[in-house]
Amino acid sequence: MSIASINGIDLYYVVHGSKSPVLFIHGYPLSGRLWDAVVEPLRDHYKLIIPDLRGMGRSGTSPLASMAQYADDLAALLKHIGEERPVVVVSLSMGGYVAFEFFRKYPQRVRAMVLADTRAEPDAPEKAKSREETALKVLTSGSQLVADDMGKVLFGAKASPQLRQEWQAIMTATPKEGVAAALRAMAHRPDSVPTLAQIRVPTLIIVGEEDKITPVDAHRIMNKGIANSQMDIISGAGHMTPVETPQVFVKTLRTFLDKLPENR
Ligand code: MLT
Repeated sequence: MSIASINGIDLYYVVHGSKSPVLFIHGYPLSGRLWDAVVEPLRDHYKLIIPDLRGMGRSGTSPLASMAQYADDLAALLKHIGEERPVVVVSLSMGGYVAFEFFRKYPQRVRAMVLADTRAEPDAPEKAKSREETALKVLTSGSQLVADDMGKVLFGAKASPQLRQEWQAIMTATPKEGVAAALRAMAHRPDSVPTLAQIRVPTLIIVGEEDKITPVDAHRIMNKGIANSQMDIISGAGHMTPVETPQVFVKTLRTFLDKLPENR
């Protein structure tokens, strides 16, 4: 575990391995632990860079955030660790919103993309309004409120009680300022649908068949819009594919990574 002092906060991150770099971006209000299952199978084959986004996990919190700020933090982190090569960006949900922004701001840094359980469209006005309202409530009453709401929709039917409890605890422990900042960042995030046609790098789209937060149809839009993309639907999983069906997720990811042109 390491901490980088970046853009005014302490950013927590781990790096495993030293080969071709892969940057993992978790969702909201989660942490880099989302990617625990990829570490053992992939660390000898790739360099895995796994941060906690600002305001989540063990990273420092700021009252405001934006997709641009999260993307800048990641670019600064790559610089901090001396990683100058283009990276494969692997993202889930809000991590995907950050990945689109990272691609727009730093296209030369992106070698390939994995977009899991996410969407390209922005919030509808009512959704953005309700996020603002939730942000205010969270600042008053704490993160438990969001953890309880998310807990109801995060997983597919087969997820074990232990898995649900584990993530309930992680979400509840997320600082309320980080949760509120992320809610506002998501409410104000740009429309990434026009970005899809600009993405020319190999792209893997993954979705749990039972994803209630970013359903399968949202992934079909991305699959249609990104020329060089393939889409995999994972049965028996909801929104949290890397932890609900870790073996299938890792196998799908590994197959994609191993086939990238420079890895052949
Ligand atoms: C996430 O899982 O990162 C968020 O729930 C995505 C969202 O609310 O749009």
